[in-house]
Amino acid sequence: MGCCHYAAPTEDGDTAFSVDVSAITYGPGVLAEVGDHARARGITRAALFTDRGVAALEHVSIVRDSLIAAGVDVVLYDESRIEPTDESFLAAARFAAEGGFDGYVSVGGGSVIDTAKAANLYATHPADFLTYVNAPIGGGVAVPGPLKPHIACPTTCGTGSECTGIAVFDLLSMAAKTGIVSRHLRPSQAVVDPTVTATLPATVVAASGFDVLSHALESYTARPYTRRPRAARPSERPQSQGANPWSDIGCLESLRLIGENLERAVADAGDHEARGNMMFAATLAGIAFGNSGCHLPHGMSYTVSGLVREFQPAGYPDGAPIVPHGMSVIVNAPSVFRFTAPGLPRAPPARRRMPRRRHGGRGLG
Ligand SMILES: [Fe+2]
Repeated sequence: MGCCHYAAPTEDGDTAFSVDVSAITYGPGVLAEVGDHARARGITRAALFTDRGVAALEHVSIVRDSLIAAGVDVVLYDESRIEPTDESFLAAARFAAEGGFDGYVSVGGGSVIDTAKAANLYATHPADFLTYVNAPIGGGVAVPGPLKPHIACPTTCGTGSECTGIAVFDLLSMAAKTGIVSRHLRPSQAVVDPTVTATLPATVVAASGFDVLSHALESYTARPYTRRPRAARPSERPQSQGANPWSDIGCLESLRLIGENLERAVADAGDHEARGNMMFAATLAGIAFGNSGCHLPHGMSYTVSGLVREFQPAGYPDGAPIVPHGMSVIVNAPSVFRFTAPGLPRAPPARRRMPRRRHGGRGLG
């Protein structure tokens, strides 16, 4: 309902929301700009993160050549694991700590980008691994300060990780998926090149598209920020602060683009317009849920993906069975929204209103 529910904050509800975004460069061919962006950010020696599958594609060579042409020393790390674990994060962190890097570049899906976030974190602010991991599994200690520059280049149109301060992984000892959340994890810059989608298999586009769809739906229907208890200090306001007028903008435009383009993007690899629009929808939804949060479909997805035994969908690398993230999310979505929608129905966007101040007057200023 746009924002009409924001007009009724709970007694201890927040009265303000914060907006954090990565710098974003979007357009065909921008992977070749990465070197110049790196130099502009003061990077002289970069760790280039990818995985073995993506390393074989031209995307990585375009970025590496661009960095070298800009005079940046580059060391490739292609050991990022799809569905990363604490062990794979730690291996990446060791590589980062030993490499003496002053910047990071990631080329790949969400797993690769999240791995670069974790490597940057532990190389910049060394600590026992569980220190920064979400409580109660980890210590939940706040990241103490900024990380080194990180330029993230997504090669799928789904996760939105290039715009979020979240790194998700499997903690092997507990067989549980958890993560590290901090504004400092958010990449300094997202370089989003829609041409990377041309070679994606249809099943990957479909699963990624469902992930984007659920990001937008969950962010739009997340508990409003006005109903989340205020943080003790303004600087402690969480990234997952609840639905808010800013995140709604990204959700609604993302949903519009998904509605118009997802089927086309899956059906025809040559439909560059549709696949490019899905890439933009993914970035918009990433900006949105990175400033509001997801809810039940994503929370329940980890149980779904954890139960996989033999499923190996077409279009994904041979090897370990996998339920693609977007599939494990979207199977929960219909039941979740049937259950939650009556609790807080949202009005059409045209009726959106800015919230009223607690003591009268209009808007948040
Ligand atoms: Fe997701």
